[in-house]
Amino acid sequence: MIEVDGKETLGELSSEMLAELVEKKPDAVLGLATGSTPEDTYKKLIKKINTRKLDTSRLTTINLDEYEGLSPDHPMSYHAFMKEHLYQPLGLSEAQTHLPKGDAPDLYEEAERYERLIQECGGIDLQLLGIGENGHIGFNEPGTPFTTRTHVVDLTANTREVNARFFDRLEDVPHRAITMGITSIMEARKVVLLANGDRKKDAMTRLIAGAINEEAPASILKKHPDFTIIADKAALAGIPADVRANWG
Ligand code: PGA
Repeated sequence: MIEVDGKETLGELSSEMLAELVEKKPDAVLGLATGSTPEDTYKKLIKKINTRKLDTSRLTTINLDEYEGLSPDHPMSYHAFMKEHLYQPLGLSEAQTHLPKGDAPDLYEEAERYERLIQECGGIDLQLLGIGENGHIGFNEPGTPFTTRTHVVDLTANTREVNARFFDRLEDVPHRAITMGITSIMEARKVVLLANGDRKKDAMTRLIAGAINEEAPASILKKHPDFTIIADKAALAGIPADVRANWG
C-alpha cells in the first residue's frame, strides 16, 4: 500500500507505473478505468509518453465498463470520457481501444463478446481500478458473486446518485451497465487500485480492515498476488493503526 498526500502524487505514481509498463512492453494490454480518480493519471501519462517518446502503436486498452444505452459518442458515455482523456491525446486508434458497447442490441451477447475479447488479447497486464463509495470495482456492486466474468448489472440507487453529478438529472443516469466481472479483474496480471478523498474512507476501511466477502466486492483483491493500493490519507483515515501496521 502506498499512502500519498493527495491527488497530485496519486496521479504521479500511478501514471509512472503505466508509463514504465508501456516502456518495457510496448504491446502491453492496459486495463483502464473511468471516473474522477484516474483523470490525473491519464493527464500525467500522456505527458510522460510524449516526453519519453514512447511507442503506443502496439498498445491495447480494455476498459472496465460502460452504461447501457449510451452510444460511444454520447457525451456521458465512458467511451466519450476515454476518447477525451486518453485516446485522442495519444492518437490511439479504434482498433486498439476497447469498451463494452452499451448500445449493443443484445447486452448479454455483448458481455460474452467482451469477455472473449479479453481472453483473445492474451489477458490484461495491468488493471487500473477506482473504488465506489459502496465498495464496487468496475460496476460490480455489493453482492456480486466473485465468480462473475463480464456481465450485465443493475446499478444500485447509491451508484446512480453518486454518478448523477456527471449527468444533467438523476433520471438521465442509466439503470444498467456492462462490466468486467470480478474473475475477469482478478485474472489481470497486476492490479492497481486508486482511492482519494474522504468519501472513499468507508469503502477503503472495509477493503483493508474487513473480511473478504461479496458484500465488499473489492475485498477479494487481497487474494491477488500482485495488488497495489495507492491512496491518500483521507481515504485511509478509517483504518485502525494495528491493521495498517500489518498490511504489506
Ligand atoms: P470516481 O469513481 O473515481 O469517480 O470516484 C470510482 C468508481 O466508482 O469506481
